[in-house]
Amino acid sequence: MVDRHGRNITYMRISVTDKCNLRCRYCMPEEGVCSKSHFDMMTEEEIITAVEAAAALGITKVRITGGEPLIKKNILSICRRTAAVEGIGEVCMTTNGILLPRLAKPLKEAGVQRLNLSLDTLDPEKYAYITRIGSLEAFQRGLEAALDAGFEKIKINAVLIGGFNDKEIRSLAQLTMGYPVDMRFIEMMPMYDSGDFDQQAFIPSSKVLDILPEAVAGEQDGGVAKLYRLPGAKGNIGLISPVSAHFCGNCNRIRLTADGKIKPCLHSSDEYSLKGLDFDGMKQVLEEAIWNKPAWHGDLDAQHRSQAGRNMNQIGG
Ligand code: GTP
Ligand code: 5AD
Ligand code: SF4
Repeated sequence: MVDRHGRNITYMRISVTDKCNLRCRYCMPEEGVCSKSHFDMMTEEEIITAVEAAAALGITKVRITGGEPLIKKNILSICRRTAAVEGIGEVCMTTNGILLPRLAKPLKEAGVQRLNLSLDTLDPEKYAYITRIGSLEAFQRGLEAALDAGFEKIKINAVLIGGFNDKEIRSLAQLTMGYPVDMRFIEMMPMYDSGDFDQQAFIPSSKVLDILPEAVAGEQDGGVAKLYRLPGAKGNIGLISPVSAHFCGNCNRIRLTADGKIKPCLHSSDEYSLKGLDFDGMKQVLEEAIWNKPAWHGDLDAQHRSQAGRNMNQIGG
């Protein structure tokens, strides 16, 4: 369906849980999430009905997100049923990768076509610091499992953080020499309470090109990242620049949170509830949400923090 600003909305991101087995400092607080009542969260049936209603309005791609989607007990069933909905041509997932040794193959069998993994550093101590509780070795086992399971076009996301991983831009980018993966650098978005990092930690994505002058423009894939390539590499370098050069004019997506709210824009407080509705009710609310999708998210910086009213783990990126 086309919104009031002429954008064709074809991509829905579904956060299946706001909980996570890591605690990345720019994403969620150390203590985790305060448990919402089970009754406030979308059931599997409701999620599938929402996908059916969205597909009826022209959504063709679904990305499953979290928190961490793989900690959800019924994740395989959600993926399988989502992939089976008529009109849904692509089901992808964004995950921290930790549980992939057990789940990569079953996910592939359930119809998940592509995976995006989060990795901000190649230094084990820094990985433990940024995730508060994670182990780099566990991530590496997850990446290997995804490659072994036959996933192609894996994308690795690193959030750029001044004073933390700015010295690692080259080594992270060099992952594309050894693995057939895209390495994407994301400008940190100032969320409701991603309070550990302030304006000084912000690095514009253009810094990546300063550090990699040999990178040349690559073939674009229509996603949010601008793509480059190192000579001889097996994958692309991607720059995601929501702060320095927002891509709202081409935005084709809406989001569904784990508590059943459609967010037509990541950084707007506008939310439309699907919880408890049937197919017709959801379709009607989705239509209203898509039609009213804001033109853009407004300035984003330390003074103009995201208006989302939620942390990233409660939206799914
Ligand atoms: P594909 O294009 O399918 O590979 O996925 P993606 O890049 O949309 O998904 P991913 O979950 O890997 O997101 C990468 C980063 O882009 C995350 O930091 C997201 O928060 C950010 N992002 C994704 N969509 C949007 C958007 O619409 N607006 C903004 N500002 N950021 C976004
Ligand atoms: N700014 C930019 N990206 C973020 N992510 C989580 N929080 C932020 C933030 N504040 C990224 C994660 C993950 C993706 C879904 O969103 O690293 O790769
Ligand atoms: Fe978990 Fe991803 Fe947030 Fe890290 S960025 S805490 S892995 S949801």
